[in-house]
Amino acid sequence: MVNVGIIGCGNISRFHHEGYAAAGARIAHVCDVRLEVAQGVASRYGARASTDYRAVLDDPEVALVSILLPASLHREACLAAIAAGKGVVCEKTLTDSAESSTEVVKAAAQAGNFFATGFMKRFFPAMQQAKTLLADMGEVVSLYARSWQPFGVLWDESLPREYSDRPSSVIRSYGGGVLVCGGSHILDLIHFYAGRPTQVSGQMRSREGLDFDVQANAMLWLKDGGIAHFEALWHPHAFAGYERNGWDERLEINTAKGRLDIYTVKWDHPENNGALLVHQDARSGRVTEHRYPAVNPFHIEMAEILRRFEAGEPASPSAWDGYVVDQLIETITASANQRGALLPIPWQDLN
Ligand SMILES: NC(=O)c1ccc[n+]([C@@H]2O[C@H](COP(=O)([O-])OP(=O)(O)OC[C@H]3O[C@@H](n4cnc5c(N)ncnc54)[C@H](O)[C@@H]3O)[C@@H](O)[C@H]2O)c1
Repeated sequence: MVNVGIIGCGNISRFHHEGYAAAGARIAHVCDVRLEVAQGVASRYGARASTDYRAVLDDPEVALVSILLPASLHREACLAAIAAGKGVVCEKTLTDSAESSTEVVKAAAQAGNFFATGFMKRFFPAMQQAKTLLADMGEVVSLYARSWQPFGVLWDESLPREYSDRPSSVIRSYGGGVLVCGGSHILDLIHFYAGRPTQVSGQMRSREGLDFDVQANAMLWLKDGGIAHFEALWHPHAFAGYERNGWDERLEINTAKGRLDIYTVKWDHPENNGALLVHQDARSGRVTEHRYPAVNPFHIEMAEILRRFEAGEPASPSAWDGYVVDQLIETITASANQRGALLPIPWQDLN
């Protein structure tokens, strides 16, 4: 049985500890600067509670830690966890810059630690099936990928305090707006399905009174000559999307042999619906809908992480996958700051 440490007990935390527990791991140590919150989680599992994450890293019983802190703390916590010899699972985004992510990738590789980055959308059965189908469909010619998430309050005339504060709660927790929040997952899926893009033109926009972006667009040149169109948007349309609940996140992947359409479901309510995959075969015209029961992708992710960790297999998505997304975010932002200039992506040779 794997003994797990949970570092950070905010919004995302329950998906990790409940996922680990469902997959048979033991939650051994829980940390948050807010002691009562850490104790609340720890008491569910008979675990120890601490306010300093170093206590979790010093705990000899803990083999694997999930780092669920604000993005600005990921670099230091990841490096400390690697140095302490723990297996590491870091929520996306890996860090808050390509340079810091490079450091983490190198440190994990040198120490030989198990290191996973938390891109749970890859674990929807629909996403896995799309990957399997794509293996026989040839190179990606054109890909449309968008994450539209309902966030109507940002479009109201007067903003709640947490968004008008400086820095806003969004910047404090995530270090950026929709590009790093919803967009990071979609950039990871572009990488997962179409490989590393070579160059990018980006656009980003905010609204008056906000210190973060609410819209980010990019065209990404794919390595084989195709194009990926990317958009992340926090929007006010309460009923948009496949679930008619405002969640409107989808991918359309085209090759010479056919098309895949994928519709995801609201990230924190996976119990409502299953994600949907539609496959059109270009030659026969046959359309196949792959429908799945409502499953929690975090539970599949945690079970797969534990399986790989126990089997001594490398993690996937890895620290490298985390770096790729952080590099894309940085280059899209740089391009947007230069009015959409077409920029080569300065990949570090870390593999
Ligand atoms: N995979 C997803 O879909 C998804 C969704 C939401 C968040 N996330 C990621 O999860 C991470 C955390 O996001 P969140 O929404 O849970 O943020 P959050 O602000 O709700 O939680 C962060 C927690 O860390 C605690 N904390 C802050 N500094 C600390 C320190 N020095 N030591 C110990 N605890 C400390 C805070 O008290 C808080 O409980 C971010 O990287 C975010 O991008 C991923």
